[in-house]
Amino acid sequence: MNVLKVREDFPILKNGLNGKPIIYFDNACMTLRPRQVIEKMNEYYYNYPACAGRSHHKLSKMATEEFSKSRSIIRKFINAKSDKEIIFTKNTTEGINLVAKSFKFHKGDVIISTDKEHNSNLIPWQLVARQQGLRRERISTKEGFDLQHFEHVLKHAKSNSNRSFVSMVQTSNMDGTSIPLKEIVNIARKYDAVVMLDAAQGVPHKSVDVKKLDVDFLAFSGHKMLGPSGTGVLYGREELLNRLDPFITGGSTVDDTTYDGATFTQLPERYEAGLQDYAGFIGLGAAVEYLKKYIDDIHVHELKLNKIITEGLNTHVNILGPQDPKLRSGIFSFNAKNKMDHHEVALLLDSYANIMIRSGRHCVHSWFNDNKIDGSARASFYLYNTEEEAKIFVEKTKEILKMK
Ligand SMILES: Cc1ncc(COP(=O)(O)O)c(C=O)c1O
Repeated sequence: MNVLKVREDFPILKNGLNGKPIIYFDNACMTLRPRQVIEKMNEYYYNYPACAGRSHHKLSKMATEEFSKSRSIIRKFINAKSDKEIIFTKNTTEGINLVAKSFKFHKGDVIISTDKEHNSNLIPWQLVARQQGLRRERISTKEGFDLQHFEHVLKHAKSNSNRSFVSMVQTSNMDGTSIPLKEIVNIARKYDAVVMLDAAQGVPHKSVDVKKLDVDFLAFSGHKMLGPSGTGVLYGREELLNRLDPFITGGSTVDDTTYDGATFTQLPERYEAGLQDYAGFIGLGAAVEYLKKYIDDIHVHELKLNKIITEGLNTHVNILGPQDPKLRSGIFSFNAKNKMDHHEVALLLDSYANIMIRSGRHCVHSWFNDNKIDGSARASFYLYNTEEEAKIFVEKTKEILKMK
């Protein structure tokens, strides 16, 4: 991967902000977009700005073709069996909510998650469990993922004739650690559990093959992988998707209605109610086309940056998660040893050095509350970040910490 060549494609990296270069390290929240994605969205607005899949005129046919093409590109990217298994959503959050609210649970079924879930994979389950009388179990990752406890929970549920539904974060946005997916899926299969992954920080950074992973559902966001904001994908195994209750209903989700009833249509339209963000999903197809050229190199590249920053700053800051950068993917979450507030660190980096990171609790409030930590500063990397930027980040952070 030629990072300098990649950077040429990103207008904001080429032009900077007010003529000054920026260092963008807030990729876990949202990534930048290459011109190829922006141009593809504009192509829709300039050339065929119509609804897809409904009308029979030329513009609608062009929109339909591009929209469908995008779905196939995304399907191939994660190696799903059929385009029917690719549901377009607003984001990861909507994908998880769709499954949580539509899956046919029985009272007593068990939802199993980790202690490090983003609010998007926590709150939907809290509500559904309360409404439907489900049990929730939390697996600790403090000393590494507790596989023994995990298996115990599944075994216990099965021996009580309850079904288990595993919904877990693939890679944590808070500290960058990943769960041992192969072992988790193997154990889950032994006990006939359903497995869903919050892959918001997985799919953008490493090649994901849903057939090889053998997961049932997987949700991710377009805006975390060079795509337009407000685009996301829910992958679901066709036979399971067919068994969900429709989530948001309305136009496009039905074959027919009467005053008293509706016949729901086939996948994937059944779960895509109303007119869609056609420009967005067509842009997401372009983002995936772009990303697939580099996907096998991104993780290794991020580890290299994380190593530079970890080695440069580990005597000045406390790192959240393991010390070894190889275990934290593209995330460096930290608090200053001299107790400078994490928001202050982020604000100073921005105002003093044009370095953009995030500070706060990263929507993982539950973990921060449990660990009695009030937040952290977080730098997160992507394919266009350079080793030079990592070194500047180290130097500027040290300078800023001296201001306290
Ligand atoms: C691990 C993880 N899960 C879920 C989400 C929610 O993503 P979105 O806001 O795009 O729905 C995020 C966003 O930061 C995330 O990092």
